[in-house]
Amino acid sequence: ETVEWEAASYDMGGHDTYMHKEISEQADAVDRVLRGRIDEKFSTVHLGGLNLDAREARGIRRVKILGCGTSYHAGLIGASLIEGLARIPADSEPASEFRYRNPVVDPDTLYIAVSQSGETYDVLAAVQELKRKGARVLGVVNVVGSAIAREADGGVYVHAGPEVCVVSTKCFTNTVVAFALLALHLGRIRDLSVADGKRIIEGLRKLPAQIQEILEGEEDIKKLAAEYADAKSMMFIGRVRGYPVALEASLKLKEISYIHAEAYPASELKHGPLALIEPAMPTVAIVPSDSLLEKNRAAMEEIKARSGRILAVAHQEQEKADHTIIVPKNEDELDPILMGIPLQLLAYHTALALGRDIDKPRNLAKSVTVE
Ligand code: G6P
Repeated sequence: ETVEWEAASYDMGGHDTYMHKEISEQADAVDRVLRGRIDEKFSTVHLGGLNLDAREARGIRRVKILGCGTSYHAGLIGASLIEGLARIPADSEPASEFRYRNPVVDPDTLYIAVSQSGETYDVLAAVQELKRKGARVLGVVNVVGSAIAREADGGVYVHAGPEVCVVSTKCFTNTVVAFALLALHLGRIRDLSVADGKRIIEGLRKLPAQIQEILEGEEDIKKLAAEYADAKSMMFIGRVRGYPVALEASLKLKEISYIHAEAYPASELKHGPLALIEPAMPTVAIVPSDSLLEKNRAAMEEIKARSGRILAVAHQEQEKADHTIIVPKNEDELDPILMGIPLQLLAYHTALALGRDIDKPRNLAKSVTVE
């Protein structure tokens, strides 16, 4: 059983699809998740519903994030934010995989359930099992008062507002920002310096305007989508922080355009998937200007040598790529938030060019409330 699509209840606000409306709302949505939470004095953030005091936060040895689909991908970026800023080992796993492998539940691990709807059965069941075993579980959830929000010991609301399109866009972005807030909060209780706290806060404050700037480039992205819409299959690559961006972008493309897509860490290309590269399989490469830039350029060179077409998402023009979508630079840790946004538009315009039913892709439901 699945929750039916609740279209009629929200106005499309002049957009042709809910997906387009929701993509376009992201600057406001990010503004909302930040509002009232930043503490300039101590270079940290206040998260009212966390229910985790400083002593408890210091006692956390690991963080395990659980979600499904797009929420699982948001959790991957969340894990890298927590590990990077709070220096706590963290990872994200599909909730169903976690449930079925009889995991060791450890009292010093903080478990975090991620869900837009707050109703996804696999996530809810994982939370219930964890609680039965005495674990502490937080929720990073969009829908206020949903089952997962009620079941969790505390958490962070994502405040993306209602999301109607079956595939998630603005909620993904806001969830990652919510994780950045949580990581900053945990970091400032632990070893993150005042200066680094300030640096991240300044980066967070820049996000809404930078998102708006990316959205203003929509016409160019639409042209690129027309260029790549004939692809039989697409490869998405990224490294470390860029890899979850690649995973989510490839999922978005599959879900709404039905073009087959693969996501790989750029370094894994040579261990197999390079065999797929040919002109009919273009690559989208996530290429931030960070310490891994040269490595990413080398991966693009390998693709070019096999006559693969490349679309780069980068902070500066990439010579090796056939096309580059340039996004504004933020702090390295926050770059993944921005780099995913043009790829939502790419998936959207590809699906539109192919005449797909964007808000309601075949075989999918907004919320899967059974196993
Ligand atoms: C469904 C949707 C996905 C979504 C996933 C998790 O499969 O089609 O778009 O990412 O559920 O949903 P949640 O509400 O838990 O984030």
